[in-house]
Amino acid sequence: MPFTIAIDGPAASGKGTIARAMARHFGFSHLDTGLLYRAVGALGGDPIVAARGLQPADLERDDLRSAEAGQAASRVAAIPEVRAALVDFQRRFARSEPGAVLDGRDIGTVICPEAEVKLYVTASDQVRAGRRALELGADVAQILTELRERDARDAARDVAPMRPADDAIMLDTSDLTIEQALTQAIAHAERVRA
Ligand code: CDP
Ligand code: CDP
Repeated sequence: MPFTIAIDGPAASGKGTIARAMARHFGFSHLDTGLLYRAVGALGGDPIVAARGLQPADLERDDLRSAEAGQAASRVAAIPEVRAALVDFQRRFARSEPGAVLDGRDIGTVICPEAEVKLYVTASDQVRAGRRALELGADVAQILTELRERDARDAARDVAPMRPADDAIMLDTSDLTIEQALTQAIAHAERVRA
């Protein structure tokens, strides 16, 4: 049976960094599900058509990391038909042998409610904005506004809103280095595996 690790949390909380490193540690495949929504948003046109026809090459575009792409992703991600079109691919990926790590907003609640490990990664708004501003070389105040707007939309939508699963372990990385956050995340997953 494949082993699934579901990692959710708000923008720039550190979930992608933890997901990538956990996948490397366990020899699992990793899927950044935010890229699917970023690609649908970036393709333009009818987002439902874009989601239904999404191709692997669409995830390789180099303009998907920008704040604008994040906002576009958040808008298309509130459309039920867009989310529905992306479910099968994510669930199939989650069954990769010997295991898979998926990070996003609804992995523990909707995509993989049966995941063996569920983490909900958070950090204060200020810390998250600071980290993302550093990555993008952008203004912290502007990024803070963008992240808050996106988080509010993601948490308020009717379909698959961003929220921790009831059985998720909460990991606040505000005062943790990447290494410290990773040590805690891996220790939890190792306990579950044992
Ligand atoms: O995937 P998500 O948007 O949640 O965040 P990320 O891309 O993993 O992390 C955002 C930035 O914060 C990256 O530049 C990480 O290196 C950094 N980070 C950090 O400084 N300290 C942590 N404990 C986790 C991430
Ligand atoms: O890296 P960051 O946390 O800033 O964003 P992301 O994970 O790339 O996600 C971009 C947007 O896609 C989010 O703001 C959500 O609106 C949407 N998303 C979602 O609805 N469900 C997921 N499983 C992943 C992302």
